[in-house]
Amino acid sequence: MARIGVIGCGYVGLSTAVLFANLGNQVVGVDVDHAKVAQMQNGLCPVFEPGLSELLERNVNAKRLQFTTDYAVAVSDADFVFICVNTPMGPNGGADMRYVRQAARGIGRVLAPDRLTVVVNKSTMPIGSGDMIHALLTDEAADSTRIAVVSNPEFLREGSAVHDMLHPDRIVLGAADRAAAEAVAELYKSFAAPLLITDRRTAEMIKYASNAFLAARISFINEVAHICDVLGADVRQVAEGMGLDKRIGPHFLNAGIGFGGSCFPKDVMALEFMAEEANCHPQLLHAVLDINRDSRRSFIRKLNKMLGALEGATIALWGLAFKPDTDDLREAPSLEIIRDLLMRGAIVRAYDPVAMEGTRALFPTVTFCADPYEAATGADAVTLITDWNEFKGLDLERVRESMHRPTFLDGRNLYDPHEIAALGFTYCGVGVPSYPAASLPTSQLSRFVAD
Ligand SMILES: NC(=O)c1ccc[n+]([C@@H]2O[C@H](COP(=O)([O-])OP(=O)(O)OC[C@H]3O[C@@H](n4cnc5c(N)ncnc54)[C@H](O)[C@@H]3O)[C@@H](O)[C@H]2O)c1
Repeated sequence: MARIGVIGCGYVGLSTAVLFANLGNQVVGVDVDHAKVAQMQNGLCPVFEPGLSELLERNVNAKRLQFTTDYAVAVSDADFVFICVNTPMGPNGGADMRYVRQAARGIGRVLAPDRLTVVVNKSTMPIGSGDMIHALLTDEAADSTRIAVVSNPEFLREGSAVHDMLHPDRIVLGAADRAAAEAVAELYKSFAAPLLITDRRTAEMIKYASNAFLAARISFINEVAHICDVLGADVRQVAEGMGLDKRIGPHFLNAGIGFGGSCFPKDVMALEFMAEEANCHPQLLHAVLDINRDSRRSFIRKLNKMLGALEGATIALWGLAFKPDTDDLREAPSLEIIRDLLMRGAIVRAYDPVAMEGTRALFPTVTFCADPYEAATGADAVTLITDWNEFKGLDLERVRESMHRPTFLDGRNLYDPHEIAALGFTYCGVGVPSYPAASLPTSQLSRFVAD
């Protein structure tokens, strides 16, 4: 069993630490956030992630997993040190690497001399970062220290981090030294996932290219949804029809108000930035981001059209987290939508099962409600922002009766337009039939055909 240090205990770091401890390794997690460390030392999970809390408690109690703010405790004896700190979007769109640099220097200072330590980059880092980390480590460490740096990008999804860690689609390892990659591969040997060993830059690129591709699928279907809205087709069935083609597959083809979260927006932007800096012309990446921005704007435009005016209107938001099963609000569409609504003079009432605390701090004038029914009470419109499961089984008749005007804007196409309209709502989704029905531009047909 290995001794493993994990630097940065957020969604990725904590999941990594818990996973390796659960496999029987001795793991020490480090974080600069003292409050978080104190919580984890007591077996409490600082993030909302289904299943993580139980595994954390179990491994802390089994004394395989401990937490500290002291790098030396985690690094000096470790065979492997995983860097899992955040790499947020910098002001110019590139990745902000200050936390990675701090982590690398912190590790370098306490690396044991005369033995090999493998430092593994799990954070998503720009292409070439492995070289930079190697240089920083070497700079700080004693001359006799032996260091290998391996890139091991993480592909877990928030909301299913535990499942994704236990059932990875692939393990990607990038290294200059194959033996180091193989040593890291040993840690994953109990998983049946395909293993891909590459050079470091290629591994770093696999992560960016994967996220950019998934984001592109979302923007693609959102563009198709917009065209469906205008020409009168149903994007849900279009996506189903496309997804049945094995070359396409069904995933990431749900039209809605676009992607958010801590990864897609920043990673697509970072790839765009890297490409531009390298004098490439990333046209598709520009379009992916433009369409995503537009998805939110067109949501507000639709709401304005449905209500006639937003000033003075009371709008209920169902869902705030960037997606279901997480409390993460980073780049969540809800934040931009709330900002826009408040700017236009609307009154906002909101409900989310787990993400209200973080939003409250940002928007003190928003009314936060105990449940979706309370949020809808007296509202001129309900807007569905995050497709939490609990929104599926609601008594929509009760919702309609409590509203001032029964208007529903479904940003995730969670509801069946016909059913919700039959309950007496004015309904609009994204690329699906709206009620009352929009007039279709049949007269335009002549413009689409050549003769
Ligand atoms: N969240 C995801 O779904 C996901 C998925 C795959 C990859 N990633 C990538 O993984 C990395 C981490 O993401 P995250 O969502 O876990 O971030 P996070 O913000 O949730 O956690 C980062 C943690 O690192 C700590 N930290 C910052 N600087 C530190 C330092 N110098 N020393 C020790 N601790 C430090 C922070 O206090 C925080 O607890 C990012 O590069 C991200 O792009 C994230």
